[in-house]
Amino acid sequence: MPTQIKNAIWDVLVDCLLTSETREMIEKMQKKVTRIGVMTSGGDAPGMNACVRAVVRTGLYHGLEVFGIMRGYQGMIENDIIPMDSRSVANIIQRGGTILKTARCKEFTTPEGRKKAYENLQKHGINGLVVIGGDGSFKGAQIFSNEYDIPCIGIPGTIDKDIAGTDFTIGFDTAVNTAIDAIDKIRDTADAHDRLFVVEVMGRDAGYIALYSGIGTGAEHILIPEKKTDVEQILSSLQEKERRKKLVNILVVAEGDDFGGGNELANLIKERVPGFDIRVAILGHIQRGGSPSSMDRLIASRMGYSAVECLLEGRHNVMVGIVNNRMHFTPLDKAVKAKQRISEEWMKIVKILAS
Ligand code: F6P
Repeated sequence: MPTQIKNAIWDVLVDCLLTSETREMIEKMQKKVTRIGVMTSGGDAPGMNACVRAVVRTGLYHGLEVFGIMRGYQGMIENDIIPMDSRSVANIIQRGGTILKTARCKEFTTPEGRKKAYENLQKHGINGLVVIGGDGSFKGAQIFSNEYDIPCIGIPGTIDKDIAGTDFTIGFDTAVNTAIDAIDKIRDTADAHDRLFVVEVMGRDAGYIALYSGIGTGAEHILIPEKKTDVEQILSSLQEKERRKKLVNILVVAEGDDFGGGNELANLIKERVPGFDIRVAILGHIQRGGSPSSMDRLIASRMGYSAVECLLEGRHNVMVGIVNNRMHFTPLDKAVKAKQRISEEWMKIVKILAS
């Protein structure tokens, strides 16, 4: 039988045997990723640099060309894109902030903005993206990749730990340690003066920093956005503490708590339980800076490495996470929609241990 006919029969047979999933996978792998862009987007988080380093060096190891996109989507729109080599990420694993800088970019939410961004990626021949950021950044990546068929991998980088599909996000551990360090110091002075301190920590929509740092410092009350705050219950507990002369109290409140921030809470306590000498400390952006903890360096390195492997394997539009200490891949849209859940048991622990 002539070879041409044999080949044609073979092609038809293979086509019949392939499942649609396998066919899709093969198609993706045929669109080989050769030049990747990496960026940091949204609020910065300690460990982002360690992650950029991991992406760049894993990409180079596999023979890819790697580009750094400055200031997240803003740099993509403005063509602020630079080639990265191994030396460009030397000596950054221990540094907070991000050498690629970061921004929250309104223009990327418009089709016109995304078109500009795509044209700039094309100029550099970039055919794969790694986005290190939070849920807002993933939403952008999701829309972009659907519009322009650019494979995107998300890496959760945010101090808030408010993304589903991963036990930890890059920067959270460092932020909690920073908050703990500060609250320990606040407790020293609170103790010296017999004072009540309201400490406000970051977390616009998420109470994880408050919960972890509050438990870690033995806070008397922890207020988080995920649970409706029962102020009357807090006030009556404080009145009872006042009666038994337990004057040193630390209340940790997430900035996005439904009752309000640190100042609102302190004002109410002053009015309703005047026996306390009250001060407020708002920790603010110190929680976003500083040298990343060992844990953040480690997860950043593992996630950065894994993101590049994903692009090469044709596993596209997923967020790389770590669940039970193993790599875990969540479709970008699911990572964006779902939030992590606060354990009821943890709330019980807070109550029991603070009595
Ligand atoms: O990155 C998350 C976060 O730190 C939130 O906890 C906080 O509400 C917000 O960013 C602050 O953002 P910005 O620095 O833009 O004011």
